[in-house]
Amino acid sequence: MMIDIHNHMLPEVDDGAKTTEIALLMLQEAVNQGIGHLVLTPHLYEVDIIKSTANWKAKVEQGSQAVLSLIQEHHLPIKVSIAAEVRYQDLLPIILDELDVLIGGKYLLLEFPFHSVPNNLERIIYEITRKGIIPIIAHPERIKPWQRDPLALEVLINMSCPLQVDIGSFLGTLGPNSEKLANFLLERDAVHLVGSDSHNLDSRALYAKPGYDWLTARYGKEFADLMLKVNPGKILAGEPIGVYPVNLAPNRPSLIEKIAMIFKR
Ligand SMILES: [Fe+2]
Repeated sequence: MMIDIHNHMLPEVDDGAKTTEIALLMLQEAVNQGIGHLVLTPHLYEVDIIKSTANWKAKVEQGSQAVLSLIQEHHLPIKVSIAAEVRYQDLLPIILDELDVLIGGKYLLLEFPFHSVPNNLERIIYEITRKGIIPIIAHPERIKPWQRDPLALEVLINMSCPLQVDIGSFLGTLGPNSEKLANFLLERDAVHLVGSDSHNLDSRALYAKPGYDWLTARYGKEFADLMLKVNPGKILAGEPIGVYPVNLAPNRPSLIEKIAMIFKR
C-alpha cells in the first residue's frame, strides 16, 4: 500500500477540496490508486496565524470530522492523519508551539515561497532541528531560485532534510522547469520521497499510481517502493530515513559536447 504524505483533500480548509462531495471523490480515487494512508496537509500561511490559531484549529477540526465521516459512511479502506504544509514564515515558532502540524510527531512539511528563498537557510533549518524536528522540504523542484541554482539544495541535504518531490513534476504536469529539476534531482539520488500534492480531480489530480509506475519503469520497483511506501511509512512512524550527501554541481559539458558546440557556431 502506498502512503501519500502531501495532499489537500481536507474539504473547505485551503485551495484543495472545495466541497465534501469533492473530498469524497478524491478519497475514493486514493483508494482506487492503491493508497492505504493519507496524511492530509492543508496549506498553513502566515495570514492563517495572524487571523488566529484557534480559527485554524476549528477549521481543520471541521474538515477532519467531515473526512472521517466520509470514510466511515462509505466504508473506505484508508487511514488518515492530519498535519499541515507550513509555508516558511517568521511566525514559525508560534506554529510549532501552538499547533499540531507534525507528521509522526517528528517531521514538518515545510514549503518555501516560490519566488524567493531566505538567504539564511542554514540558520532556519538549525533552529527547527534543534527542537528535535526534521523539516521535509516540500517540492523544491517547483521553487524558482532552486530551478536556477540547484546547487543551493545541497546545504539542506547536508543538514539531513529529506526532499519531497511532487509526482506531477516528474510526470510533466507542473511545467517544464519543475520537470527538469525533478529529473535532475532523481538522477542524483537527491529525492527522498514523493507526494501527490493533489488539490482536486482535474488540474491537480492524484497521479499516485501513474507516478509509482513511472518510477518503477525508470528506476525499478525497489526505488518506487522507497519513494511511495518505505520512506513515507518511516516518516509516519516518526522514524529516521536515510538522507545522504549528494553532488548537485551542474554538469560540465564533456569534451565531445564542447567540440560539438564549436561546430554549431
Ligand atoms: Fe501542497
